[in-house]
Amino acid sequence: MFRKIAISAVSALCLTTGAAFAAGGEGGHVEDHAFSFEGPFGTFDEHQLQRGLQVFTEVCSACHGMKFVPIRSLSDEGGPHLPEDQVRAYAAQFSVIDKETGEERAAVPADNFPANTGAGAPDLSLMAKARAGFHGPYGLGINQFFRGIGGPEYIYSVLTGYTGEEKEEAGSTFYENHAFSTGWIAMTPPLSDDVITYQDGTPATVHQMAEDVSAFLMWAAEPHMMARKSAGFKAVIFLILLSSLLYLTNKKLWSGIKGKKTHA
Ligand code: HEC
Repeated sequence: MFRKIAISAVSALCLTTGAAFAAGGEGGHVEDHAFSFEGPFGTFDEHQLQRGLQVFTEVCSACHGMKFVPIRSLSDEGGPHLPEDQVRAYAAQFSVIDKETGEERAAVPADNFPANTGAGAPDLSLMAKARAGFHGPYGLGINQFFRGIGGPEYIYSVLTGYTGEEKEEAGSTFYENHAFSTGWIAMTPPLSDDVITYQDGTPATVHQMAEDVSAFLMWAAEPHMMARKSAGFKAVIFLILLSSLLYLTNKKLWSGIKGKKTHA
């Protein structure tokens, strides 16, 4: 039995390492990137999420909405963890149409981030889970199991994957981008060094901003990732304990009968 387990473990490992070279799949080229929230014990870095929020607010929200994310979740522990008064002030900069009165008013934390479809840009609420940067070998999902599906890596790669080439087609401009599936994206390169000034003084390089906003969008798409991971971990420990107890019970129950082997 132990030989079998060892063989399966070794082949699983071979498959994952093999897949590392195939990462990126058919479409664009997605680079692996180490985020703080990866692995079974990874957590979101609150400061990174706060910087990511700043990039989203000052750059991305000009074209993209995030309509499924409640503004109040910005104060969540394990998330950006902003003080409540800051969240209220943050909300107040947006105006929304009140559902009951039908009138325009300043947003409050209970409202969601605004939608934005003006520029034809997709909503970013779930983007980090809607795109898979990594594809497992033959669809087994082993690669994803170890490294996540690569949503934030994909966003990071799109933001840093511009080559500088552009072309006009049917009256629209497309920008060459290594990570985008068709190789040409309609999004103008949104980031350039120092396009914003970080409140915490971190140098605002394209890579830094791309990493921070990708982490922020992962949090937006899955704010309870930490809780899910710890529940999963507890479940695995529990199952291991339960299986060993059942195994031992089974051995003990049958020991009288199995012990007497007859040679036919
Ligand atoms: C000037 C407007 C504009 C800004 C600013 C902008 N985007 Fe976009 N974005 C677009 C448009 C338009 C598309 C659709 C591109 C397409 O389908 O070719 C897009 C697409 C995307 C996609 C989806 C790619 C896919 O797989 O479909 C992601 C991810 C994205 N943007 C992230 C961001 C982030 C993060 C920021 C802020 C750093 C940002 N964008 C800023 C206009 C913008």
